[in-house]
Amino acid sequence: MGTDTMHVEIIRNTLARHRAEPTRLLQILRDVQDHFHQIPSFAMPVIAEETGVPIAQVRGVTEFYSFLSTAKQGRFHLLVSDSISDHLLGSRDIAAYLSQKLGVAIGQTRPDERVSVDYTSCTGLCDQGPAGLVNGHWIPHLTHARIDRIADLIERDIALSEWPEELFLVDDNIHKHGLLLNSELPLGAALRKGLQQGADATLAAIEKSGLRGRGGAGFPTAGKWRFCRQEAGEHIVVCNADEGEPGTFKDRVLLNQYAHGVFEGMTICAATIGANKGFLYLRGEYRHLRPQLEAILNTRREQQLLGADIVGQAGFDFDIEIHLGAGAYICGEESALIESLEGKRGVPRNRPPYPVTSGYLGKPTVVNNVETFLAAALITLHGGEWFAVHGTGKSCGTKILSICGDCANPGIYEYPFGVTIREILQDCGAENTQGIQVGGPSGTFIGANEFNRTLAFEDLATGGSFIVFDQTRNVLEIARNFTHFFAHESCGFCTPCRVGTSLLRNLLDKICDGHGTAGDMLELSRLATQIKHASHCGLGQTASNPVLSTLERFPEIYQAHLKTTTFEPGFNLDKALETSRRLTGRDDAQAHLETEGM
Ligand SMILES: Cc1cc2nc3c(=O)[nH]c(=O)nc-3n(C[C@H](O)[C@H](O)[C@H](O)COP(=O)(O)O)c2cc1C
Ligand code: SF4
Repeated sequence: MGTDTMHVEIIRNTLARHRAEPTRLLQILRDVQDHFHQIPSFAMPVIAEETGVPIAQVRGVTEFYSFLSTAKQGRFHLLVSDSISDHLLGSRDIAAYLSQKLGVAIGQTRPDERVSVDYTSCTGLCDQGPAGLVNGHWIPHLTHARIDRIADLIERDIALSEWPEELFLVDDNIHKHGLLLNSELPLGAALRKGLQQGADATLAAIEKSGLRGRGGAGFPTAGKWRFCRQEAGEHIVVCNADEGEPGTFKDRVLLNQYAHGVFEGMTICAATIGANKGFLYLRGEYRHLRPQLEAILNTRREQQLLGADIVGQAGFDFDIEIHLGAGAYICGEESALIESLEGKRGVPRNRPPYPVTSGYLGKPTVVNNVETFLAAALITLHGGEWFAVHGTGKSCGTKILSICGDCANPGIYEYPFGVTIREILQDCGAENTQGIQVGGPSGTFIGANEFNRTLAFEDLATGGSFIVFDQTRNVLEIARNFTHFFAHESCGFCTPCRVGTSLLRNLLDKICDGHGTAGDMLELSRLATQIKHASHCGLGQTASNPVLSTLERFPEIYQAHLKTTTFEPGFNLDKALETSRRLTGRDDAQAHLETEGM
């Protein structure tokens, strides 16, 4: 068999494993990428033909997701997290060392195709950075010494499966257990109770508990399930484990230690709304967890907690499939996530209709966060009151936080809603704190005079991200990192966000680099407001938050960075000619334009 025929055969086998289902396109492409370290051009027509998907869609999906590439990547593909918490821990220096040690520029593949190095937005290891991924697998605590070991393994061409286990070891770092993290959930107990009491009683308990979605927006969970249940036809349950918000990693820990509870919550939801099919959408960075999650699903099948006639209830059939993302933050947005589950680019849909009426393949779909499902399972077991007595009037129960940044003990903490920021800072060992980013880049940056504020939907809402910055940190650099993140992660569907986030990034770069003027400040706030109001989805609507919340609280820091001139063009012609100078090998005075004083 010739090489080409052999390669096509490999693609066909991959397709067969996925039954060539169009909805599994992303999963198929992930497997092809793993095998060939790229999506080879010859693969696209074969995939298109066998799945029946237009080749433009195969190409479009390939181009959309960061972890897929038409260019050849190294057999060892290393990504360093570019998240702000990793920056604080020296990730830029680590990436430079990695690049120098392996003799490959960042963003490039070495000519021998053995290794490539690049940045990635966030690895979800903010409490143990600087962190990276090698062929999608976590490598926490990157130091020069660890990089020396990794480089040695790569140069000796040792297969990843033979690398020392301890290089991949990730800690859960749970520092404060609360209502959810302390609760025992005997296998199947909550599900049995749910089935015994019936869907109406389960819904009533969840309603009474006051549970609101833990993914950020805080929509009442009972309401969501009830709306979906009212719709006719086949229903779907989706667990959103995309967790892409930098600074959020609590779902990673929940899936590592509490997955039975999460799956039980999904199954209770299925029994309540009448669903037969469920998906766990697992962010690509968490692929390490997949084998153990599959094993847990198998145990639950063996125990009759999944599959046909669950716990002996005739006609209650439900199962859960794991779908792996591929490095796109926007896929956390529920309608983009559904598009991705259907094998498409993760572009947010127009709403209405909402997923509860028209979700996966147009079917009524409940999408909930990992923590929401875990809470729903425990509420079903213990009753609504058990949960509702904790928290505040509009925010019942507890919230699990992922804390990172400038504090002695980064990790996971569970608090009743209503806890003050000051108390959290004391617990995690934060000193000389300048400010905190609550709710990740899309949330709010608060300063030291606001530490009496509380964590609650009626005050500071959060999906779980809590990043601490001490007095040594530069607020402008923080806003800059977040703005770069949004410009990178914008899905490009609508102009205000696609163009706006790039303009915002460029403007902030100009100010941070000391070229900003008073006019740029005005433009910054005008543009930020425009993006917020004109964007199609939550990403664009919150992308300006880092700029707006720091501008409001720290105008003097922005002012201090301004040039005295009233105008300086944003486009630097001399800088733009840098590539030409490099190509022609010239860097003498005459190869430069006189820019000073212009
Ligand atoms: C850009 C963007 C990213 C999001 N990422 C996540 C995520 O990673 N996990 C999550 O549960 N919700 C995320 N959400 C919110 C979801 O769209 C949705 O509201 C949530 O999954 C619903 O679950 P809940 O009701 O349990 O909170 C994101 C929203 C936006 C706009
Ligand atoms: S706001 Fe941004 S992420 Fe959302 S649809 Fe528009 S371009 Fe895509």
